[in-house]
Amino acid sequence: VPLLLLWAVIGYGFGSIPFGLLLTRIMGLGNLRDIGSGNIGTTNVLRTGSKKAAALTLLLDGGKGAVAVLLARAFAGEDAAQLAGLTAFLGHCFPIWLRFQGGKGVATFLGLMLALAWPVGVACCLTWLATAYFSKISSMGAIMSAVAAPFWCLLLGAPATAVLASVLAALILLRHKENILRLRLGTEPKIGQK
Ligand code: G3P
Repeated sequence: VPLLLLWAVIGYGFGSIPFGLLLTRIMGLGNLRDIGSGNIGTTNVLRTGSKKAAALTLLLDGGKGAVAVLLARAFAGEDAAQLAGLTAFLGHCFPIWLRFQGGKGVATFLGLMLALAWPVGVACCLTWLATAYFSKISSMGAIMSAVAAPFWCLLLGAPATAVLASVLAALILLRHKENILRLRLGTEPKIGQK
């Protein structure tokens, strides 16, 4: 159990690095909190106008979830990997460094799923891409991909990941409360729009 606790903390540590905030600050793109939704993730970084910063944010926010899972698995096995994935996600959403006001966890979710069960991760990415392609709305992609994740686990031979995927889906829905409200009002912006 102490070993699991260690991996929970390490996962949280990786997850809590707010790459979007750091990159936009370093690249002089302004204060993300004053832009668009004020969120620290890829979608909002794109609203600064910098595709490069957005791509890097996606890569690093996804990467930290994957790294947490892969390290925990290598050193402590599958349970630790799942736990580190969960805490990496929680770290992104509730980072202690930002008084627990973090992001919505979508990139980190995709990264950790790719590392936990890659066919599920790929299916989730494709679900995001297909939804975003047709709706042109990032949060729509996030919601569809999160809700589909437990089903992908069952369909693609990763039933051991289904419970975690369900928990993450519920958390992603909760983190998108304001987006869901805007979607219902028809005021949710298209990708790249302010
Ligand atoms: O992953 C976050 C995305 O789904 C929504 O971002 O900035 O439009 O609230 P945002």
